[in-house]
Amino acid sequence: MASKASTIIKVNLDENRVTTIPFGARVQRTDRWSYVSKIDKINTLKMLGVSFTGSPQHYTMDKIDDLWSRLKATSDVREFNFNYQEEAPQPQPKQEAPMPQNPSTPNTQPKVEGSLDAILQAVIADVIGSYVPEVNPETVGAIVNEAMTPYVDIFRNVTDQVANLNKVVSTMQPKVTRVTLTTGEVKDLEGVQHKMFPKILASINEGVNCWLVGPAGTGKSTIAEQAAEALGLPFFSENCTATMTSFELKGYKGATGNYETTKFRQAFEHGGVFVLDEIDNANPNVLGTLNNALANGVMGFPDGMIKKHPNFVAIATANTFGTGPTAQYVGRNPIDLATIDRFAQMEIDIDEDIENAMLNSIGLDVNVAAKWLEAIRVARTNVNNYGLKVIVSPRATVNGAKLIRSGAFTPWEAFEVTVLKGAKVDQVEKIRHGVNLG
Ligand SMILES: Nc1ncnc2c1ncn2[C@@H]1O[C@H](COP(=O)(O)OP(=O)(O)OP(=O)(O)O)[C@@H](O)[C@H]1O
Ligand SMILES: [Mg+2]
Repeated sequence: MASKASTIIKVNLDENRVTTIPFGARVQRTDRWSYVSKIDKINTLKMLGVSFTGSPQHYTMDKIDDLWSRLKATSDVREFNFNYQEEAPQPQPKQEAPMPQNPSTPNTQPKVEGSLDAILQAVIADVIGSYVPEVNPETVGAIVNEAMTPYVDIFRNVTDQVANLNKVVSTMQPKVTRVTLTTGEVKDLEGVQHKMFPKILASINEGVNCWLVGPAGTGKSTIAEQAAEALGLPFFSENCTATMTSFELKGYKGATGNYETTKFRQAFEHGGVFVLDEIDNANPNVLGTLNNALANGVMGFPDGMIKKHPNFVAIATANTFGTGPTAQYVGRNPIDLATIDRFAQMEIDIDEDIENAMLNSIGLDVNVAAKWLEAIRVARTNVNNYGLKVIVSPRATVNGAKLIRSGAFTPWEAFEVTVLKGAKVDQVEKIRHGVNLG
């Protein structure tokens, strides 16, 4: 600990002594040079006309003592008296009856010689007076850095978790999206919509067919349903499979000659949003029928020609752009360019706000949810960075959260069966890299 500077009163070179009044004290004292503190030695030398290069605080004690020895060897004057002005005595107030002391009022009485404070200060100055450690800012910086290192990761972790917590909490606020339809009607939509929702809504409103492409579970089917609801249009959905036939679109006449209608026919004739879910799984024959329907204003059904309703819009959802199998989606069919041409293709990626909202609806403890979400995001970044052919879908987020909530699965067990499922042994380590689930 550095001591505070004293007032230098007298210096005797022959006796090797310095007389001072220590800081805060009112009694003077005389010390041998070797017991004088660094700051007082520096001030003494300065008062004796010694000049320093740079900051004298950075001088070592040996160097300062060396300057003292040189001064002693060369100076003609052997004793120096500095003109120390004793504080003029304060005019004493007239003696009055003593006021009762208020214990919370600090005692502003001047310290008297020989007071306990003064004695203690003198003792402390004696003990540590000559010890002034060299302070090198770089060394101190290095020591502080080293001491802080174990805490930096903890701080970072806590900061990340708080950020996630905020995200989760923010999705607890009910959201309302306001849309204006081409009719001028203004609608308030409840719940959370994908960030691409306004564009898709506008496309449907304009009668432009949409092809929504994106990884599994990003909300493609949900967007289509929400858009139909927002526009007040009937909603129909057909899941495409390899065994699907064109009858499932056109319908057929039964043995009795009665026409069996389909969802597609309903939408085509009376208006509505018709979703072809997983179009890249569809049988090419079905797509041929669909092309005709989308290209022309009328279409032949088993019971006759039907005019397309102006409010008929088709939405295709797919995991691919229709260009055939990809690394992640191996079984997908390439789609005829004529079919693709009839749709505006829009990418639907994971919208983290929706994922937060979905997670929030599970009702997991907020801290557990934040940790789980963080694990999912780290895993997803790993998949991206390592270029792994694995999908960490929002469904994994929701399903994992449900398993944790059940109490039958630890977070790691839930991670294993929802995120790591299907991953190869060499991929598992990469996906888990940096994931912290306790
Ligand atoms: N906006 C949303 N608000 C709340 N939940 C949503 C939202 N969007 C999607 N979900 C939920 O996310 C899950 C996946 O959504 P959806 O089935 O629409 O995705 P998808 O992209 O069609 O998936 P797939 O490619 O597997 O068909 C569903 O459980 C759905 O209820
Ligand atoms: Mg879907």
